[in-house]
Amino acid sequence: MSDDFGQEQAIRKLAPGKLVIASHNPGKVREIAALLGPYGIEPISAASLDLPEPDETGTTFIANAELKALQAADLSGLPALADDSGLAVEALRGDPGLFSARWAGPTKDFGLAMQLVHDRMEEKGPDAGHDAHFVCALALAWPDGHVEAFEGRVDGIITWPPRGTQGFGYDPIFQPIGHDISFGEMDPDQKHAMSHRADAFAKLVAAVF
Ligand code: IMP
Repeated sequence: MSDDFGQEQAIRKLAPGKLVIASHNPGKVREIAALLGPYGIEPISAASLDLPEPDETGTTFIANAELKALQAADLSGLPALADDSGLAVEALRGDPGLFSARWAGPTKDFGLAMQLVHDRMEEKGPDAGHDAHFVCALALAWPDGHVEAFEGRVDGIITWPPRGTQGFGYDPIFQPIGHDISFGEMDPDQKHAMSHRADAFAKLVAAVF
């Protein structure tokens, strides 16, 4: 990061101790707790502190992660970590993107969301490419308003029909580059070693510890 005078600023380090995980998804909180445990981090879930979930009004994954982390840090008086992620399909100019969760509708029906991706790609015709990537943005914020952000991605193609029952969300239609199985068919450990989330966490860990 550089300051107003173009000078490179050192990345702020995260001291061992309490860290609010600004997510109301218990699975995510558990996964993050396991990843950061070795660094002496004591995770506290936003739900256990009764923190509100802010509206995701940002126009980028990083902006949304930052607004969630900054609000949690401000309200709790502790450092806070938030993430935002989604699937971007090149032929759809990055859709579903920031709206990846919303394409599944109020009942969180990812069969429907995957069908929508497929239908929109069909509308583009046979020459439209199948390239896509998952993005994961992580933001670490402190109560004084300082924030550090990291972005990870994994590149692949959209395949049809959906394959596999592992993972979640769009995993059955995403096949990472260099592999002939979808994330939905992949052993979770294998996915977690190469995913957009793994990439973002590797960058965060290398920078702040
Ligand atoms: P959020 O980051 O919790 O807002 O989730 C964004 C949405 O992106 C999720 O509901 C999923 O639809 C999609 N998504 C993010 N990461 C993955 C992944 O690893 N596999 C499949 N879908 C994902």
